[in-house]
Amino acid sequence: QINEYICRYKNYNFATGLTTAEYIDSLQNFQIRDSDIFLVTYPKSGTIWTQQIIISICEVSGGLNEYPNNLEQMPWLEYTEGRPDYTLRPSPRLFASHLSTALMPPGLKDKKAKIIYVMRNPKDNAVSYYHFSKTFSGLELPKSFEAFLEQYLSGNVAGSSWFDHVKDWHSKKDQYNILFLTYEDMILDLKAAVTKICGFLGKNLSEEAIEQVVEKCTFKTMKKDPKANYKFLPQEKMSGDFMRKGQIGDWKNMLSAAQSERVDQILQQKLGDLSLKLIWE
Ligand code: PPS
Repeated sequence: QINEYICRYKNYNFATGLTTAEYIDSLQNFQIRDSDIFLVTYPKSGTIWTQQIIISICEVSGGLNEYPNNLEQMPWLEYTEGRPDYTLRPSPRLFASHLSTALMPPGLKDKKAKIIYVMRNPKDNAVSYYHFSKTFSGLELPKSFEAFLEQYLSGNVAGSSWFDHVKDWHSKKDQYNILFLTYEDMILDLKAAVTKICGFLGKNLSEEAIEQVVEKCTFKTMKKDPKANYKFLPQEKMSGDFMRKGQIGDWKNMLSAAQSERVDQILQQKLGDLSLKLIWE
């Protein structure tokens, strides 16, 4: 246990209020189906957005069971609360996860199910995570942005280090059936991202159906969509808004020049060899 809010298990920090080491460990026996779809992200990288995209694509192509909201439709693989018996779920089963590769169900390595990994630039990611930590009761309340950034850069937050997460998933990519996307690409061209996801999921949608999905997944529509905007979480758990700003470049309002340079340096040190194409504005 690192502090009241996070616990480290196999090099990965999880939020103590959301799951347990025993439960995470039990995922080693989780039986994967070919038709399963996993959305994997580091926290605050565009999870609920991509969740809405995947759900909308599956919905318009037919055959998806309906659930009251996106959280129940695509639950968190590793969280224990309200967890149904997944073996009873009809296919396709949809899951979201922030886990590292080592903690994922081993069956995924056989390239059975499909995985979509979404990455967001670490400066905007840190800013989004900071605001979220101020309003989500399951996370430590940051003393200041400066203090939070230090914890974030050293990986002492739930989900551990952004740098390690991205490196981990990239380095194992050949073992999985995986599509990498970035939050920024989705902002710059949502239709292209939706089309790419359709291709990866093997869904052949008409131009009109793709437009329908895009419309359901804009920031504006999602903010009003009670199934997708996470306003269904109790106020005492989440007093802020999941749909906060939804932009590229908000980091410029928070990071000093020195802080921004520090992120650049760590990025170069830790991930320089990956030649990631990050978009900052
Ligand atoms: S979590 O808690 O890990 O599930 O959070 P996550 O969903 O990964 O990240 C939340 C941020 O994603 C933004 N978001 C969107 N941006 C653009 N368009 C759409 N449709 C959209 N939906 C969610 C959300 O606003 C959070 O980013 P910030 O920068 O805080 O606004």
